[in-house]
Amino acid sequence: MRSQTREDNDYGYTHELNTTTLTPSYRIDLRNPTNEHKDQFFNANVVSDWSQLSWKEIGKPYEVKTVAKSKKEWEKEHGDMSVKTSWEFFNRSFHDWFVKDVPEEIAKSKKEMKEHLAKFKLKEVKQALGETARLSLWNYAHRIEDGIWDPRGKRALFEGLDLQKPRILFLGAAEGYEAMQLHAMYPGGEVVMVDYDEFCKTDRFGHFPETYPFLGKKTASGQPKIWYKDEMNISYVVDDIRNLHFGKEFDVVLSVGLLEHFPDDYKGQVMEWHRKFLKPGGYVIMTTPRFQVKSRLFYTIMADVMNHTYRELMDIRQMGLYVYKGGFDIKRHGYIKVHNGIVAQPR
Ligand SMILES: C[S@@+](CC[C@H](N)C(=O)[O-])C[C@H]1O[C@@H](n2cnc3c(N)ncnc32)[C@H](O)[C@@H]1O
Repeated sequence: MRSQTREDNDYGYTHELNTTTLTPSYRIDLRNPTNEHKDQFFNANVVSDWSQLSWKEIGKPYEVKTVAKSKKEWEKEHGDMSVKTSWEFFNRSFHDWFVKDVPEEIAKSKKEMKEHLAKFKLKEVKQALGETARLSLWNYAHRIEDGIWDPRGKRALFEGLDLQKPRILFLGAAEGYEAMQLHAMYPGGEVVMVDYDEFCKTDRFGHFPETYPFLGKKTASGQPKIWYKDEMNISYVVDDIRNLHFGKEFDVVLSVGLLEHFPDDYKGQVMEWHRKFLKPGGYVIMTTPRFQVKSRLFYTIMADVMNHTYRELMDIRQMGLYVYKGGFDIKRHGYIKVHNGIVAQPR
């Protein structure tokens, strides 16, 4: 495959199609531009008739109960933390990890551990051990495995939809990764990201690497093309989803890791948020973290980084039942590396 050079884009970054490389903070994965090998997104196909499924049969999701230390300490002083403040804590703490030079941090942490050990500073040794474990897990889960961004899985989930120059609304957008991937695959439209934490606009999205290559298509010819953040048509709204005043004007309403943060009493409302701004014939695309042993381990070891808000882990049947009972027909369901994925349309 020919490399895409400076001549091909105005941004001067050189990335080669069909390759994967590791940077100190993340993986770049431009393999499989035509998606011939759909091995990264397994269409689980576990349910053929959602109307026949019941909660009695499949049980409710698993609730993650470990809470970040910073939240516990804050609450000791101030009382219950509001949901919005919890998200503000989460976003700052999570963002810190995406920008780490991981190999350098691991080496530093190991060196510190040895120094503390030599001086018998056991409390410090324990702390350094914990940090080394978190860094090693992050290195594996995000940098090596690319489980969080998972571009190949996301591309397979998003592929083949009937969309031309779509307007995409991303609810709870954080750094906006998935909307950028979708926009690259269906170019020529527009992305509106919404998050009520200003830090997401200024830092998580604002400092998302402009050199990160999103594999998609050329607008006119449909040939493979690498897209960068700065050439995309994106606006970022800082507001509560409940305050939005859009009409039914979006071809896609997207959320990633949102539904599982609401107890059952609120899940119907969350599904309603997805329906409210959707054009007739539009798609809702949602993903939620999978219930699997390695995810439980991840949220235990990374509790201080991740666990500031209510959180569930669910399987694809549980996620699908929420979506179905929320009034949607499920067009596609399956799982990618660490998330379940669903494409749906209002019934
Ligand atoms: C778990 S994050 C989404 C996962 C994301 N991919 C990440 O990397 O963090 C959920 C996002 O939704 C936002 N959010 C939650 N409730 C919201 C609401 N009512 N209005 C706007 N944003 C909301 C939070 O601020 C947070 O950034």
